[in-house]
Amino acid sequence: MHLPDLEIAKKREKSENKYVNLQENYQKVFNGKKYFLRTYGCQMNVHDSEAIRSYVETLGFIKTENIEEANLVVLNTCAIRENAKDKVMGFLGKCQYLKKNNPDFKIVLAGCMTEQPDVIEEIMQKHKYVDIVIGTHNLYELPKLLMQEYNKQVIEVYSQSDEVIEGMHFNRDSQYTAWVNIMYGCDKFCTYCIVPYTRGRERSRKLEDVVKEVEDLKAKGYKEVTLLGQNVNAYGRDIGEKFSHLLECVAKTKIERVRFVTSHPWNFTDEMIDVVAKYDNIMPYIHLPLQSGSNNILKRMNRRYTKEEYYALFKKMKEKIPNVAITTDIIVGFPGESDEDFNDTLEMVKKCAFDGAYTFIFSKREGTPAARMEDKTPMKVKEERLYKLNELVNYYSNQSNQKILNKVVPVLILGVSEKDENKLYGYTDTMKLVNVVGPKEIIGQIADVKIMEAKSFSLDGEYVKVAC
Ligand code: SAH
Ligand code: SF4
Ligand code: F3S
Repeated sequence: MHLPDLEIAKKREKSENKYVNLQENYQKVFNGKKYFLRTYGCQMNVHDSEAIRSYVETLGFIKTENIEEANLVVLNTCAIRENAKDKVMGFLGKCQYLKKNNPDFKIVLAGCMTEQPDVIEEIMQKHKYVDIVIGTHNLYELPKLLMQEYNKQVIEVYSQSDEVIEGMHFNRDSQYTAWVNIMYGCDKFCTYCIVPYTRGRERSRKLEDVVKEVEDLKAKGYKEVTLLGQNVNAYGRDIGEKFSHLLECVAKTKIERVRFVTSHPWNFTDEMIDVVAKYDNIMPYIHLPLQSGSNNILKRMNRRYTKEEYYALFKKMKEKIPNVAITTDIIVGFPGESDEDFNDTLEMVKKCAFDGAYTFIFSKREGTPAARMEDKTPMKVKEERLYKLNELVNYYSNQSNQKILNKVVPVLILGVSEKDENKLYGYTDTMKLVNVVGPKEIIGQIADVKIMEAKSFSLDGEYVKVAC
């Protein structure tokens, strides 16, 4: 086991081309073997899984959706809430069973769960059948670990590293929309959150590397990029850059659509708002987690803003960015949340009338400050609060969808709908999901779509013409 390097080494320059070398050294050794990949968690993990696919496919593995015929299973895990961990542990049980009947069945555990010391301990003690555990900071080592002697458990987790690996390859899920990491890690330490412990300190990619990646994607025919980071708008603080400048440079590549997630209210500057408003190819959509509408709870969460500051920012965005859609994340049942605190959250939801919201019940994460806070609220009360909040949130997202009923809006068509093969699906500029009746030829294009029906979570529309 690699012991965490506690002193954060400045080895960024050295690590630039590590991945490329690995690619050159390990090609096509597992020819024809099959791999099964399951991804849990946020966009960061979805994008990391595109890197995992590139690693294992370069080694010769072929993708299968049927775990029973797989030789390799990779679980890219999430640790954000307890139920995310429970799901992975349940799945591991199934893998153990399959491995009993198939000695040539290897299990790789990747993602945020592997960055939790108690999980590593548990794997070493109780789940010896797991073959490889790899961390979020050294994912690029997966080919090397797969190549190593296969019949002993390999655990390689570098939990403290400020490396930014360049030259990464991704076997992307889509040909039209792409994730682009602009920074890694998080320095905010919200008291409930595990991410700063699983993803390490904030570290930004160089501006020119990001712009080059976007230019390459554009040249390959991609229509949309989403700039990715836990706090995307904290970009550049470690390298003397600014997110507003990066955003402007990316917009100037003239790729059709630019998005970014997730923004922290504390880091959102007027300059950023101005850049979003100025460029037509930066989509009028901002995900701006509120977490709570109570100043008391916001303080205990270490969110660094008050509800008044959040609302002032929210209003400025609405005033300056035409037709902007703003969505949010909210946690209910944070330790010590009173009825009054919860009502403050409901009031903020009413005031902001969010276009959409992801809502969660607080989940205690060992090692975070909130895990040590007194929490007397019964789960039943927390569930009632969530129910009440969801009713309100759904009301406003429905209202927001109704606003574009019978209107013609631009939609980037991404493919055939999973639920109905006679329909296509895509997203509006404001990130609303639309199921579209139209010809398959428009897949990959931005099309004008007339919205025929508006529901709480999606829209139905008809293709009109390819947008100019
Ligand atoms: N970096 C982003 C998102 C992080 S995780 C941000 O700061 O906004 C996505 C969401 O999960 C968070 O916004 C929060 O609402 C929720 N979340 C994080 N930790 C949680 C916990 N311990 N319990 C419940 N929800 C949590
Ligand atoms: Fe977690 Fe807060 Fe960082 Fe978001 S900003 S990843 S919620 S610590
Ligand atoms: Fe989960 Fe890690 Fe993302 S904990 S939400 S996969 S950063």
